[in-house]
Amino acid sequence: MNKLLVTGGAGFIGANFVYYWLENYPADTVVVLDALTYAGNELSLDDIKQNEKLHFVKGDIGDQALVESLMVKYELDTIVNFAAESHVDRSISGPDVFIETNIVGTHNLLKAARKIWIDSPETANPNHRFHHVSTDEVYGTLGDDDPAFTEEHAYAPNSPYSASKAASDHIVRAYHHTFGLNVTTSNCSNNYGPYQFPEKLIPLCLSNILADKPLPIYGNGKNIRDWLYVEDHARGIDLILKQDKLGEVYNIGGHNEWTNIDIVKLLCEIMDKRFAERPELSEKYPDATPAQGRASIDLITYVTDRAGHDWRYAIDAGKSQRELGYTPKETFETGIVKTVDWYLDNPGWWKPLLKS
Ligand SMILES: NC(=O)c1ccc[n+]([C@@H]2O[C@H](COP(=O)([O-])OP(=O)(O)OC[C@H]3O[C@@H](n4cnc5c(N)ncnc54)[C@H](O)[C@@H]3O)[C@@H](O)[C@H]2O)c1
Repeated sequence: MNKLLVTGGAGFIGANFVYYWLENYPADTVVVLDALTYAGNELSLDDIKQNEKLHFVKGDIGDQALVESLMVKYELDTIVNFAAESHVDRSISGPDVFIETNIVGTHNLLKAARKIWIDSPETANPNHRFHHVSTDEVYGTLGDDDPAFTEEHAYAPNSPYSASKAASDHIVRAYHHTFGLNVTTSNCSNNYGPYQFPEKLIPLCLSNILADKPLPIYGNGKNIRDWLYVEDHARGIDLILKQDKLGEVYNIGGHNEWTNIDIVKLLCEIMDKRFAERPELSEKYPDATPAQGRASIDLITYVTDRAGHDWRYAIDAGKSQRELGYTPKETFETGIVKTVDWYLDNPGWWKPLLKS
């Protein structure tokens, strides 16, 4: 039985991880620490809020005293750190909070973990684990024919977001080598699935189609991302937590590269098909483009590319496959349809989050 602190557990991946964890390990205790920034939403945990194994605490990972008190109160043995500022566009318009949360905040968590699990004789626990959730964006960008990122790929982050994640990865690594903290890190490709804030590509397109608004595509739309269903990310972290090689880094991904424009075209196709199959959707979403008898694809609008836009990310998850037996369960075809249906069925979650 484990007792976990899940930071950022009211965000997209964190919330999906909490559902995954309590379904698979119902005897475990999960304490969610989340500052509820614009991206955090307690409603994302609504379906399990009655679970007595789940404790929600609103607070900042930068508050070391709070983190320490939670570690002691709940006798926590595991930290899974999802808390972060995560939107590249926002890191371009306002980098400061990225430095504060992703770097300084992660360092605060590490300091708390070191103090409680290593330095304080009353609370020391040699079987602790600090798992840091990171991104493939730390590796920089790839050309069309370059091999996918392995764990050996040199870090070359290009945005303030990816640079802040890269810095936190290095500090996590240093706390293992210098202080003996039991750390692991995962670098994952782009996630999709339920509970993703509607500023990110997939939920943005879905909510815009439902409101008959343009689908903005940066540049020529040919930038390539590698997509993974969010529950498969949670499964990967689970396998990493179970293995006992400390200080290890694992890439998690699904060998599933798509250009942005192709993803958006696919979403348009699926939405038009869903509206044709389910007539009640036109009543529920009368403003939606397909409800008005038009093709969603006509909403595509090319906009000026964003500064320093990475061309391609691709994850080589070979090490996770070999050492952990990791393979994603969801195919893209099934995962994307599940995701579209979740957004169609849960406007109460995403509609209040839209910019007016
Ligand atoms: N979304 C992706 O495709 C992706 C891919 C790979 C890695 N990641 C990483 O996974 C993690 C989670 O990403 P996400 O997409 O769920 O992000 P998100 O923006 O949806 O959620 C982040 C959560 O962290 C919380 N948070 C922010 N600052 C905090 C602070 N100072 N203290 C406590 N909580 C705070 C927010 O309230 C929110 O609930 C991030 O570390 C991100 O870098 C994301």
